[in-house]
Amino acid sequence: MAKLSFLSPSMFAVLFSTLGVILSAKHSNITIDQSALLVLKSHITHDPHNLLSTNWSTSTSVCNWLGVSCGSRHHRVTALNLSSMNLSGIIPSQLGNLSFLGWLDICHNNFHGSLPIELANLHRLKYLDFGNNNFDGEIPSWLGYFTKLQRLSLHGNNFNGVIPSTLGDLSKLERLRLESNQISGQIPNSLFKCKELELLSLYNNSLEGSIPAEIGNLTLLNMLYLDGNHLKGEQFLVIV
Ligand SMILES: *[C@@H]1O[C@H](CO)[C@@H](O)[C@H](O)[C@H]1NC(C)=O
Ligand SMILES: *[C@@H]1O[C@H](CO)[C@@H](O)[C@H](O)[C@H]1NC(C)=O
Ligand SMILES: *[C@@H]1O[C@H](CO)[C@@H](O)[C@H](O)[C@H]1NC(C)=O
Ligand SMILES: *[C@@H]1O[C@H](CO)[C@@H](O)[C@H](O)[C@H]1NC(C)=O
Ligand SMILES: *[C@@H]1O[C@H](CO)[C@@H](O)[C@H](O)[C@H]1NC(C)=O
Ligand SMILES: *[C@@H]1O[C@H](CO)[C@@H](O)[C@H](O)[C@H]1NC(C)=O
Ligand SMILES: *[C@@H]1O[C@H](CO)[C@@H](O)[C@H](O)[C@H]1NC(C)=O
Repeated sequence: MAKLSFLSPSMFAVLFSTLGVILSAKHSNITIDQSALLVLKSHITHDPHNLLSTNWSTSTSVCNWLGVSCGSRHHRVTALNLSSMNLSGIIPSQLGNLSFLGWLDICHNNFHGSLPIELANLHRLKYLDFGNNNFDGEIPSWLGYFTKLQRLSLHGNNFNGVIPSTLGDLSKLERLRLESNQISGQIPNSLFKCKELELLSLYNNSLEGSIPAEIGNLTLLNMLYLDGNHLKGEQFLVIV
């Protein structure tokens, strides 16, 4: 230990900055984000306005790419907005490597297939909009892992099966849009644990059963759309 005292202050500075680089490299590796987005680009089969094919080029930083935003603190991709670009393709599992992503908006495109389970790694997500695409399969139960999620939009796709009860774990959820899919079964009671819900839109599906009385627990709810299902008693619901 005594030997350390022979190091000059400037040596200390070099030592500490080197240590800092080593420690932060693990968190500031934008290369991971770049390769994830390049895999996404390679899975896009139709890009009619050549938006990504010309703009998403490795000659510029991924943070300057169209629809991509990076955070100032970690210098990682924090938002991806590809809405209304008329893109076709599937979502590759590598998108789950964008571990700093808080905002993911790909609405109004023609993305199809099912949602890869690797997306469950995106635990920082606050905003997720997959609306008005062609996704199918069941609504994944792992969406319930996104404890920071405030908005979830899966409307206007071909999702089938039931509403997973895990969505009740989304304690920060303010808006849930699942309308215009082929969702069946009952509305799970757990959904009414989402105390922050302001908007709940489930219309134009194949839901059945009665509306759980716990809906009264949602004191912030001011927009509720349930028509176009096979629910009992929906005509008696009045939201004030
Ligand atoms: C960043 O990640 C890539 C791929 O995982 C790796 O090859 C590279 O060495 C990493 N760079 C740093 C500075 O850690
Ligand atoms: C990509 O698009 C962004 C946002 O419109 C723009 O700032 C950037 O210059 C474009 N880059 C290339 C290489 O076209
Ligand atoms: C996302 O992109 C669309 C189209 O490029 C744009 O109109 C919209 O304002 C963007 N949203 C955000 C939050 O940046
Ligand atoms: C989007 O693509 C479809 C065909 O894939 C085409 O018919 C339509 O005109 C396109 N819309 C825009 C706004 O580019
Ligand atoms: C990204 O994700 C894929 C599949 O989910 C994984 O196999 C790969 O190792 C990841 N790549 C990096 C650079 O983290
Ligand atoms: C109802 O949802 C289907 C898809 O399941 C869609 O094709 C149709 O346009 C929707 N109808 C309305 C009135 O929104
Ligand atoms: C709804 O509120 C009642 C009374 O406050 C409580 O007993 C019940 O557990 C709540 N249900 C849900 C699903 O949160």
